[in-house]
Amino acid sequence: MCGIVGYVGAKPAAPILVDGLARLEYRGYDSAGVAVLGPSEIRLHRDAVRVRELEAGLPKRFGGKSGIGHTRWATHGVPSQQNAHPQLSADGRVAVVHNGIIDNAAQLRAELEADGVPLTSDTDTEVLAHLIARAPADTLEDAVLTALGRIEGTYGIAVLHQAHPDRVVVARNGSPIILGIGDREMHVASDTAALVRYTKQVVHLDDGELATLRADGYQTFTRDARTTKTAVTVDWDASDYGTDGHEHFMHKEIAEQPDAVRRILKGRLDERFHTVRLGGLEMDARELREFRRVKILGCGSAYYAGQAGAQFIEEVARIPADAEPASEFRYRNPVIEKDTLYVAVSQSGETYDTLVAVQELKRKGGRVIGLVNAVGSSIARECDGGVYLHAGPEVAVASTKALTNMLVGFALLGLHLGRIRDVSPADGRRLIQALQALPEQIEAIVGDEEHLAAVAKELATAPSLFFVGRTRGFPVAREGAQKLKEISYRHAEAYQTSELKHGPLALVGPELPTVAIVPDDELLDRNLGALQEISARSGPLTVVTHDGVDLGVAPAHVIAVPKSEPELDPLLLTIPLQLLAYHAALTLGHDVDKPRNLAKSVTVE
Ligand code: G6P
Repeated sequence: MCGIVGYVGAKPAAPILVDGLARLEYRGYDSAGVAVLGPSEIRLHRDAVRVRELEAGLPKRFGGKSGIGHTRWATHGVPSQQNAHPQLSADGRVAVVHNGIIDNAAQLRAELEADGVPLTSDTDTEVLAHLIARAPADTLEDAVLTALGRIEGTYGIAVLHQAHPDRVVVARNGSPIILGIGDREMHVASDTAALVRYTKQVVHLDDGELATLRADGYQTFTRDARTTKTAVTVDWDASDYGTDGHEHFMHKEIAEQPDAVRRILKGRLDERFHTVRLGGLEMDARELREFRRVKILGCGSAYYAGQAGAQFIEEVARIPADAEPASEFRYRNPVIEKDTLYVAVSQSGETYDTLVAVQELKRKGGRVIGLVNAVGSSIARECDGGVYLHAGPEVAVASTKALTNMLVGFALLGLHLGRIRDVSPADGRRLIQALQALPEQIEAIVGDEEHLAAVAKELATAPSLFFVGRTRGFPVAREGAQKLKEISYRHAEAYQTSELKHGPLALVGPELPTVAIVPDDELLDRNLGALQEISARSGPLTVVTHDGVDLGVAPAHVIAVPKSEPELDPLLLTIPLQLLAYHAALTLGHDVDKPRNLAKSVTVE
């Protein structure tokens, strides 16, 4: 699995395919390949190399006006030339690229081998190429349908057939496939990043759908019937996928946060009624007042954002709210209540666990809205309505600006739910003013980078760290620890500060630095007490706090952020932790944007 591209049109396909693959590099991969349809045969070029090496090694004669390409992240078989995609059928007439996992691949491989088909790779994908080539069918579409009928598992595929040079056939079941409508040409990719340079008009396939792409257009269908799709316009540019002079995407995305926050707020603040307008929710005040609980579902950083969001909603709107990892929720046969508002939160809108949780909810009749960044993505389409995050494309694996906009999104939702209940106009005004102040306050924190880099340099030497916070500070601590783990590979564990004395304090000592989140709020005295306890055991302290707080101890480092309203504290307190993780990873010489073992969006089981 990883990235898919495809093209049919009047131009040479190979450069377009290679360019598309380069734009998917950020997702991580270990091999890459392309296949084009030459005048009389499929031409294949693939290897366990970076995209630019693949491009440099393209054979001179590699012409063809249709083709498919892939970046692979090994699941079945080591990274090698034979295992790279595209995979070919034994007769060389069919080429397939595939994301996802074929669960019954071993059985199908055994059947093919028993039938005398020579298998040349260790991949699950190869069986698809053989099955399509061997399917007794008149059209490529029927052959693909027949082959897919034998497959159990998930897939996004693109297929090229020598006997059908005018088309590429694609199919989706659990792994994204997006068509790009060009001018007398069609593109396809598993991620809009590969499309925006060529077109802004895209069509997302649904699970169970297939499409035939030809230079003059496309047709979508399922096993039973033709389908009709509506194209959506993506407002992301190819330039959004560049580093814009920054050394890394993560650095650029941290710096972009003030603008990202301005974008999510734009047009949504209602200063007349001291509330917010969220047209995308597609539920009026009467419907929204019926909800007695809010349940938030997401994975990774999105889950931590959900935890902070649940606290905001419960505190401000006084509706019981909590968050749970979507990856757990979907497996535990949850009770779905009709007076609970379910909220799915996701940057990519393609995280498989979150998507399946939404589908399970809907199957049981639950009402679910999305807080999603990628417009038109699977989760956004599956939800009953939602709030788009407008953070712009996020390329670095470690989420920064999307997470910040998730927190703002929850504040907007919470304020909206609160103002149709008992939140006063005065409180509404107070929170709106605080939201409006965020972009400049974030700018001030990001401007403190030199200091944060120096702190990070020191923390990076510790093999293990604690991050502690309580109530609103706890999701901040969790996200801070997560960020450090993800990109610096340091062991970092988050605890509620209140829980220190119930176990973790046993580990505190000169060898174990603690990053403590200490907002200037109603729990300040309690937090200061914990700082004393850590200091008394010679635990090195880095305190993330507000300007002007007297800590009563002398920590190794103090990181002070501007004051907001207490309910919004998590947002500003998280920003310095992003820069701490970034500089710790730099100090240790790691690949900041593409950490080992992680993918930007996990679109498989
Ligand atoms: C992956 C990424 C995380 C991300 C999570 C959820 O695990 O490595 O950084 O937070 O997916 O992604 P989403 O796109 O749903 O927000």
